Formats: sequence, C-alpha cells, structure tokens
Amino acid sequence: MEEVKIGLLGFGTVGSGVYELLQKNADLIKERIGIKPVVKKILVKDLKKERKINNSKLFTTNIEDILNDPEISIICELIGGIQPAKDFIIKAFKKGKEVITANKAILAQYGDEVWKEAYKNKRFLGFEAAVGGGIPIIKTLKEALIGNKIQSIIGIINGTTNYILTKMLEDNISFEEALKEAKKKGYAEADPTLDINGMDSAHKISILASLAFGVFIHVSKVYIEGIEDIDLMDLKFAKDFGYVIKLLAFAKKKNNQIEIRVHPTLIPENHVLTSVRLNYNALYITGDFVGDILLYGLGAGKEPTASAVVSDIVSAIEYSYFRKEPFIKYPLTERKKIIKIKPMEEVEFQYYFRFSAIDKPGVLSKISGILGNYNISIASVVQIGRQKQKGSVPIVMLTHETKEKNVIKALKEIDKLDVVTSPTKRLRIME
Ligand code: NAP
Ligand code: HSE
Repeated sequence: MEEVKIGLLGFGTVGSGVYELLQKNADLIKERIGIKPVVKKILVKDLKKERKINNSKLFTTNIEDILNDPEISIICELIGGIQPAKDFIIKAFKKGKEVITANKAILAQYGDEVWKEAYKNKRFLGFEAAVGGGIPIIKTLKEALIGNKIQSIIGIINGTTNYILTKMLEDNISFEEALKEAKKKGYAEADPTLDINGMDSAHKISILASLAFGVFIHVSKVYIEGIEDIDLMDLKFAKDFGYVIKLLAFAKKKNNQIEIRVHPTLIPENHVLTSVRLNYNALYITGDFVGDILLYGLGAGKEPTASAVVSDIVSAIEYSYFRKEPFIKYPLTERKKIIKIKPMEEVEFQYYFRFSAIDKPGVLSKISGILGNYNISIASVVQIGRQKQKGSVPIVMLTHETKEKNVIKALKEIDKLDVVTSPTKRLRIME
C-alpha cells in the first residue's frame, strides 16, 4: 500500500482534528487518490500533557526529528504565532518538504517572504485552513475564479466574534460569557484578543486581498476596528431599526485603488449575511464574469479546519507527484506594482450614532447643529426613554451617506458638549 508520511507540528484544536480525520478517513482518501496519508510524527511543546491518543512514540519536542526524517514529505504547521512557527516553515522548505499551514498571522505579515522561499525551493505551500475554516475559499480564488477580475470580497471571517455577537443577542448573555464559550469550543486564538480586536479578520482579509488582487498586501494596510465596544444595547437598537451587527471584512478594488478594512457593521435584516450565525463564516465575492457568489460554512473549530488542512494534504501529494510549477504566482507576479490603498477618511458610509446625553430641551438641536455644519444629514432619530435620576439617555441616530472624515470631526465637537456625558458610539452601515 502506497503511503505518504506527514509530520504534524502542533496537536491542539487543529492538529488533533487533522489526526482524527486521517484516522477515520485516510482509507477513503486512499480509495480516491491511490495514496494513503499517514501521520508519522507530531511536534508538541509539552510531552507530559495528557493526550487523547496513547501512542506516545508519535510525539516529540524536537523539530529536527521531523525535519530530518527523509520519510516525511509533508509538514503541517499547526502551532500558531510567529516564532518558532515561521522558522520551522522556512527550514521545512529548505529540507525539501511540502508545507501546509493554518497560520494566517504569518501569511499576513511575512507572506511574501514565505512564498519566495516556497518558490525558490519549488515546494508546495497550502493555506486553505488559514481563512474561513472549512470553507474552500483559497481554492475558489486560486482555481474556480481564476478567469475573473475580483471586484470585491465581503466576509464574516472570524468565528469567535460571530459566535459572541450571535449569543449576546439571541441568548441575552454577556460578552464575557459568550467569549468563554467560544474559547471552550476551540474557536478562539491562543490569544483571543486577536479575535476580539479584529486582527484575526484583518490577517485573513489581507491574505484574500493578496490572492484576489495579485499583490502582497501587508496586514498593516488594513483599517481595523474590533467588537470590544459593542454593547448589547447597540445590538438591540440596531435590531429595532431593522439591522444586525456583524464584524465584517471588506476588500474592494475600484479605479486601481484598494479599500481594505475590518469593522463592526450594521447589515440590513434582509441581507443574506445576517443569517450567518454562531461560528459560521461567509464570503460574498464579486467577479467581473461570475457576478456575485456566496460561500458559507463553519469558519472555526476542530473538524472544519481539519477538513481544510486535509484538502491541502491531497493537493500537496498531487503537487509532489507531478512536481508542477505552482499555477498561480501569488503574490509574486505583480509584486513590483504599486498599490494605492484608499484612505479610510475618504470612504463614505451611512452611520449609526448612539449619543449619551442629558435629557433636557435643546440637546438634540445642539447635536444636529454640529452634524449640519459638517454636511451630515440625519435619516432617522429616536430618544430611548426618559432620564429618571442622574445620568443620561441614549439618543440613536442613523445618517445618510457621508465621508468618514466629516464624522470624525463632528463627533469630536459633539463629545465636547456639556450635555453629552460619554463618547458617542459610532458604527457604519452596509450600503
Ligand atoms: P492550539 O489549540 O493552541 O494548539 C497549538 C499546538 O501547538 C499545541 O499542541 C502546542 O503544544 C503546540 N505548540 C505551541 N507552541 C509550540 C512550540 N514552540 N513548539 C512545539 N509545539 C508548540 O492552537 P489551534 O487552535 O490548534 O491553532 C493552531 C493554528 O491554526 C493557529 O495558527 C490558528 O490561528 C490556526 N487556526 C485555528 C483554528 C481554530 O478554529 N482553532 C481555525 C483555523 C486556523 P502542546 O499541546 O504541548 O501545548
Ligand atoms: N480564531 C479564529 C476564528 C479561528 O474564531 O475565526 C479560525 O481561523
């Protein structure tokens, strides 16, 4: 029986998922491709940790045991973080191994360097699991949509934050409780602030934009806001106005300018993305010939992510058998091309504002006066309740389209008013 030997780096949520999938379905893969993928060694940090499998001979804490094993031809980097994971990847290429990684943080910051190394050594680099969990978004961009100019990608690409926002609204639980559940289910990053502050989504959208637009876009080019300031109150007010709040990632190309951003967004209730709940992800892609397509599936967690890694294992086997030149030259083809990122201040949105103000006559006219000075036109406004004792009442306002820079200036003035008691909450509305 022909076998391909695999070295797993990491045996956490994703690594153990890959191992379990191969235990269960490796024979099925053998039926399909004639070759059986078998895990030969697993790198972990702590050999004493209790594992669900008893075969202690599989585990090592020495990377050289895997890199120097001539039988192992495919390495799956499922450790996370930048170092030592990045060194392990580069060393694996140099040792002639094909590499698969789920590590979006490395690709979004050092993607060009890692790709260069793969090319130099004529090795396969698979990263299907880095974006969208089980959703085959990378293969879709690299293969299925290869004939299209991609115009935009809009996505819910972080399972943890989508889980938190869903649970807060539907089950009336606190942010902290929902995050605790997401961690327990294995959706969150080792450092969950990366999920919450939008950085994980930013890593992912920079990878997708690099693929879609053919030029490496470093994550530092992404405008990022997370969900740390979203209150249950905002989720409920948005609902009353007919919207659902989601953390969205956007990559758009128009007139040779790229818009790339991540922020909580109010989506109209009838939009297809509002039905994406819990740890599900979705990607709404527009190409010049395909039109609009929607990809939907589980975006985080052991099983779906393992499914993506194993699809790359099969691609790596195919690649190493036929030793093809990688088909798409991402992101090397156009690396010299100058890209222009549209400044966020120039982007236009409709906005949701929640002012906290003292409940007395004239307050609204002071606020609306300033908005008017900056050409910000109000679409609707409600004051919720009456102030009973000390404190303030929320005034919620939706605006027509206006430039971000006008909003920044107007809110700076409004927040200085003596009738405004705390900084105004500002969210963008999806067009
Ligand atoms: P995890 O549960 O924290 O597991 C990390 C594994 O790596 C553990 O087995 C750990 O060993 C091992 N490890 C950590 N540092 C190491 C070191 N210096 N040397 C050797 N081994 C080391 O992480 P995860 O959730 O599986 O995520 C892994 C990667 O997949 C990350 O890049 C993440 O962003 C990505 N990803 C995760 C998901 C998800 O849903 N969780 C989805 C898509 C992509 P010990 O077991 O001994 O501690
Ligand atoms: N922490 C990530 C998420 C894992 O919640 O989406 C999947 O990439």
